[in-house]
Amino acid sequence: MTQHSQRPTDTHACQDRPSATWVFGYGSLIYKVDFPFLRREVASIEGWQRRFWQGSHDHRGTPEQPGRVVTLIPAPGNICRGVAYLVEHDVFEHLDHREKNGYQRIATAISLGESAEIVDGVFYIAVPDNPAFLGDAPIEEIAAHIADSHGPSGSNRDYLLQLAVALRELGDDDEHVAELERLLSQRHTPDS
Ligand code: SIN
Repeated sequence: MTQHSQRPTDTHACQDRPSATWVFGYGSLIYKVDFPFLRREVASIEGWQRRFWQGSHDHRGTPEQPGRVVTLIPAPGNICRGVAYLVEHDVFEHLDHREKNGYQRIATAISLGESAEIVDGVFYIAVPDNPAFLGDAPIEEIAAHIADSHGPSGSNRDYLLQLAVALRELGDDDEHVAELERLLSQRHTPDS
């Protein structure tokens, strides 16, 4: 992982709790919570949208056959919903390792839950110049790629389906994810 912004401890610490920072999750960080946190809130950030454009060599694919996982692309005015966690700074050691395959941390304003309180925080993004970036492709091709990929963290299909369920639970309507879920449900799988 390379860092685009300063460490969260430098500028993005929580005002009320300087030893902690808000981190916004929009992909597996929504549903796979393998780290301690102080608070968890449904949250959103503005100006970004999810796309299955990042390759995954280490979680949902292999170096020989990388899977496809989400990153965010700029989308002026779009609200991207996810979950924000307030974490102590030492948790970034774990998160940076987990997101090491092409993601970098950048600073963002995060709108929290019902209150719409705005806090400073960070999120992980995989930008197009990272070596694992796959970019756009016809949606059927992306679905086929996801259906056929597996890695140490499980199948790429499960990554997508768990994300789709988690987004519905948050009341989010993400057309890209919903369309991939629909295409995958039409495909034959060994256990279906
Ligand atoms: C995230 O969940 O916020 C980043 C992408 C991922 O780990 O799936």
